[in-house]
Amino acid sequence: MNGIESKAVIGTNSWGGKAYGKAIRGSYVENGVIKDAMREAEKQGLRIYDHARDYGLGKAQKMFGKFTQELGCGDIIVSAKYTPFTHYKKNCVRKSLEKDLADLKCEYIDIYWLHLPTDIEEHLTEIIELYHEGKIKHIGVSNFTLEECRLSKAILDRAGISLYGVQNHYSLISREWEKNGLLDWCKENGVSFWAWAVLEEGMLTDPRVKTKFSLLKIFMDRQKRKMRELYRVMIAVAKRHDITVPQVAEAYCANKGIVPICGCRKPKQVKELAEAVRVKLTAGEMRRLEEAADKSGAKVMGPDIFRFAVLKKRR
Ligand SMILES: NC(=O)c1ccc[n+]([C@@H]2O[C@H](COP(=O)([O-])OP(=O)(O)OC[C@H]3O[C@@H](n4cnc5c(N)ncnc54)[C@H](OP(=O)(O)O)[C@@H]3O)[C@@H](O)[C@H]2O)c1
Repeated sequence: MNGIESKAVIGTNSWGGKAYGKAIRGSYVENGVIKDAMREAEKQGLRIYDHARDYGLGKAQKMFGKFTQELGCGDIIVSAKYTPFTHYKKNCVRKSLEKDLADLKCEYIDIYWLHLPTDIEEHLTEIIELYHEGKIKHIGVSNFTLEECRLSKAILDRAGISLYGVQNHYSLISREWEKNGLLDWCKENGVSFWAWAVLEEGMLTDPRVKTKFSLLKIFMDRQKRKMRELYRVMIAVAKRHDITVPQVAEAYCANKGIVPICGCRKPKQVKELAEAVRVKLTAGEMRRLEEAADKSGAKVMGPDIFRFAVLKKRR
């Protein structure tokens, strides 16, 4: 469709140091386990890793660079982002990208995303420059509305470059980008739609499996109580296909033509993701999952949770 075929993507936001792992994620995973997960990914043919500078409190990109060298990983596709925390300043993207390349230990970024829709025209213009220099192979946008995607596509079209993809929050319980037409627009225009947090940071996993205390868990527990019926349907679908509950959430996205990005840091999670995107759910199963999700009214993050960080256009 647009150069890189992607069925599923490994997200690296859950990688990181001990304190971050324990406080935010509920547990720390040793580097050796993450390396085993990378070995499993190679075996399963999952080649794309999604990054951003601040993932794992700034540690994830460096870990990836070190591990790919230690493991001698060859055929890997790197997705990384420019996060505009401030208004555009000349060369801000270039400086950030150079640091990313050094951390990730690669010569170019396969897919580079503008992480927030601040100063879209100015940031994309510099990203286009870097594309022409061969430092970026594909360009995407993240946390953008339909209107902002249209604008971005027009800017890239003028430069003769295709918009590779849109990376927004989407899951079984957060389907607003589908309901408001963004997903259809992507399909009509040959633009990939990558969904982040398809497991809702662990909330769309098996409720029967006990998880350790974490800051995220406090938020989740209240929502989980509303999701009993959804869990019941997910468990029934899982049983029918002989898969796990999180695989149902992953398969749901894949059956919509969406690329799930999952926070995998263990080999089992990678294997499950690779298998899940091959599962064909029936129209009836998809409908039952959606009905139960809608009835639950559960929400952890809105579809556009980072809107507060988007800066108003300068006059
Ligand atoms: N563009 C953006 O603005 C944006 C924003 C946020 C995230 N992202 C991307 O999206 C990725 C995914 O988000 P995320 O990592 O925050 O959340 P997530 O994928 O929704 O959930 C991660 C959680 O799910 C658990 N998990 C993963 N696979 C599982 C499996 N097969 N079975 C059971 N549990 C499983 C993990 O468990 P453990 O704790 O046991 O590992 C972890 O607690 C990020 O890594 C990042 O690449 C992008």
